[in-house]
Order: sequence, then C-alpha cells, then structure tokens
Amino acid sequence: MSTFKAPRGTYDLIPPDSATYLAVRDAIAAPLKRSGYGYVETPGFENVELFARGVGESTDIVTKEMYTLTTKGGDQLALRPEGTASVLRAALEANLHKAGNLPVKLWYSGSYYRYERPQKGRYRHFSQVGAEAIGAEDPALDAELIILAHDAYRSLGLRNFRILLNSLGDATCRPAYRAALQDFLRGLELDDDTRRRIDINPLRVLDDKREAVQKQLVGAPMLGDHLCEACKEYHEQVRELLTAEGVAFEDDPKLVRGLDYYTRTTFEFVHDGLGSQSAVGGGGRYDGLSEMIGGPALPSVGWALGVDRTVLALEAEGVELDLPSATSVFAVPLGEEARRVLFGAVTGLRRAGVATDFAYGGKGVKAAMKAANRSGARLAVIAGERDLAEGVVQLKDLESGEQTAVPLDGLVEAVSARLG
Ligand code: HAM
Repeated sequence: MSTFKAPRGTYDLIPPDSATYLAVRDAIAAPLKRSGYGYVETPGFENVELFARGVGESTDIVTKEMYTLTTKGGDQLALRPEGTASVLRAALEANLHKAGNLPVKLWYSGSYYRYERPQKGRYRHFSQVGAEAIGAEDPALDAELIILAHDAYRSLGLRNFRILLNSLGDATCRPAYRAALQDFLRGLELDDDTRRRIDINPLRVLDDKREAVQKQLVGAPMLGDHLCEACKEYHEQVRELLTAEGVAFEDDPKLVRGLDYYTRTTFEFVHDGLGSQSAVGGGGRYDGLSEMIGGPALPSVGWALGVDRTVLALEAEGVELDLPSATSVFAVPLGEEARRVLFGAVTGLRRAGVATDFAYGGKGVKAAMKAANRSGARLAVIAGERDLAEGVVQLKDLESGEQTAVPLDGLVEAVSARLG
C-alpha cells in the first residue's frame, strides 16, 4: 500500500466492480439518447455565484457543502455540487434556446462534489447521470422525464424503487402558502436553527426527519390544498400521463427537495433497501432558474440519478448485471519466436474487433494458462515452435477444454466463427 489513501468520503472505482458503474451509466443514458437528448459536458467547477443564486443561498448545499476556492487570479470558484445550474448556464451561453427548437434537451454524466458527512451512500465525490429539458412548459415533458428514469431503472432489473411525486406550486400560489405555513410553524416548539429556517425556507421544515418535529407538523397547511388552478391542472395532467403509461407513483405532499429552484412538479426516486440515504434520484421543474441566473424566462424540467446509489440499490436487490467479459481471446506463446508471431496475431484480432489479451511478462505455460482462465476469455490461442513451423496455432475452448489446430493466416475467421 502507498502512503496515501483516497480522501475521506471518496472511493476508487476499480475492476471488476467498475464495470458495473459503467453499465449503470450506460443504462441510464440509453433511454435519453433514444428520446432526443443530446450530450452536454460542462466544467467541473463554476463561478461560485452560479450555485449561490441558482441552487439557493439558504440551502445546505450552498451554505455548508460546497468546495469553494479562490484562484491565483482572485476568481471565486466552486467544485460543482450539482449539474442543473451548470447545464442551464452552458445552454444560455451557447444560445441554444435561440436556435428555434424548444425544448433544448440535454443529458450529462459526471462527478459532483459535496462536503457532506460521509456514510454509506453519501459521499463527498459522487456520480450522477442527469437530463434537462429547457424552455418548454408541457406536462408531457415532465412525464417523459419521469418515464425515462423509470424505464432506465427497470432495464437494470430494479424492482423495489418508488416514485414520490408532488407539486411545489408557482409564483402565483406559493407566496400565500408560504405565509400560511410560516404562521403555523411559528406556533410550534422548535429549536433555534429550525426557527431560523421558518424565515428563510419554511417548506424545508416539512422535510425535517426528526420525529419530534414531524409530530408537531400534523395539521400543517399543505401546498396541495393551496395550489392555484393552473398548477392544479398542470399537476393533474402529469399524473394522468404517468398513469396512462403504467408508471406507478405515490403522492407525497411533503416532498420538498434540497434545492431552491423547484416549481410545480417535483419527484424523487427512492429505494427501500438503502437505509437513510434512500433517494437514488430526483428532479423537477425549475421554471424560474433561468431568470435567477440572468437569462430569459425558460420554463424547464429535469432530473439527476445517482450512479453510486443506483449501484447500491442493485446490490440490495441482489441484481447481477449480465456484463460481457472484457476479453474474448487470450494468447499464450510458447517460446520467443511464438511470442513475436502471436503478438502480431493479437494485434490483428484486436483490429478485427475481437477483444484480445496476451500473456505478458515472459510467463511460463502454467502461469500463462492461469492468466487466460482468469481473464474470462472464451478462447485461448496457443502456439509453440512446432505449430509455427506448420503454419498453425492451437485454438483452445477454455470452457470445454477442446483444442484444434487452425491456420495462422485464417485465425481471425476461425475465432469469429467460434465466438459467433
Ligand atoms: P439531488 O437530489 O441533490 O438533485 O441529487 C440527485 C441524486 O444524486 C440523489 O438522488 C443521489 O442519488 C445523488 N447524490 C446526491 N448527493 C449525493 C452524495 N453526497 N453521495 C452520493 N450520491 C449523492 C440534483 O442534484 C438536481 N440537480 C437534480 C435535477 C436535475 N433537478 C432538475 N434537474
């Protein structure tokens, strides 16, 4: 072991487990690629103001969890704690919204950073795959995104996840509700921190996990009862579209989420096998975010699914992904001349698209065959001087043990035929 370890709250992705992470990313991205979402990649850091204004000055993410730094030039930057503000910033900067084709649909995959107290499922560096549909107000768009996340999880074989759904209202109905909720909360027995939250972000109090707080919240005014007609109608349409497509959800009037930009539709994917960090993904509509960061009015909706927690959910359900072995053929040379010739054969197989590996390091036959078996390859190509003199190599099926001589110059065809 070296003197150094991965920093607290982080971990390394290493083979063979790393293959599962890649497969999860691909599985989440696949339905997005089929639905008109284009890939976007933004920097790992941004101006700190983008998140302060976008995610919200009063959120835990901005007040406690951002990794901030001042550059030598004096710029205040933050490692990105989430993707939505960055993606919207990038879309505005590139004027994608002016190209005339709204919504602009984008997907992304990358690393995010939050200075949180580490525990299982909660890390300081984690991965998300996300999607944002920018510049359209249409319940079918909200439904599309929820269905795509649902289908991605189903395609991975996950079963024990639930979709929690709520509407947070809009600029018309939320202020009056907020005031009503503040009145109610001010009458409760709460600690100082929570009292402060009543002024800054009262909806978050509904989300308090402590039983003593939850007990007092019985009878609190609920946003669902205060939605304006337009928000009610919009939400009803989202619900109907999901139901029509067979996507089950639970209405959760207390679902608030930890980012301030949400309006109307909000949702969370939770998995019941994950303990306290049960949210595997979440998202919603953010109709005001563009204006908050200096852009035009662009009603938008999106989500991000956590790759780390999705992998934990697979483990919790005992789902083993059907991952193809990385290597199909393993070449074992017997002697120096064979080493030179087989190296050429390996290169030829790879160029023909066959995943092939080679016994490097001058191993003896026994060690080389062990390496071949460990690699997960289906076939071994073995050759010694006598084989080469006859212009053949031995093709060994590593499952059945059956071995046949095939012409060296017909190796690609012979291998392709065996692998199907
Ligand atoms: P979020 O709910 O903060 O939303 O994060 C989305 C997902 O990222 C979570 O459900 C979780 O799976 C994963 N995640 C978050 N923090 C951690 C952590 N510390 N360790 C491991 N996994 C974590 C957003 O980030 C929004 N940008 C989603 C969105 C997109 N809303 C609209 N568009």
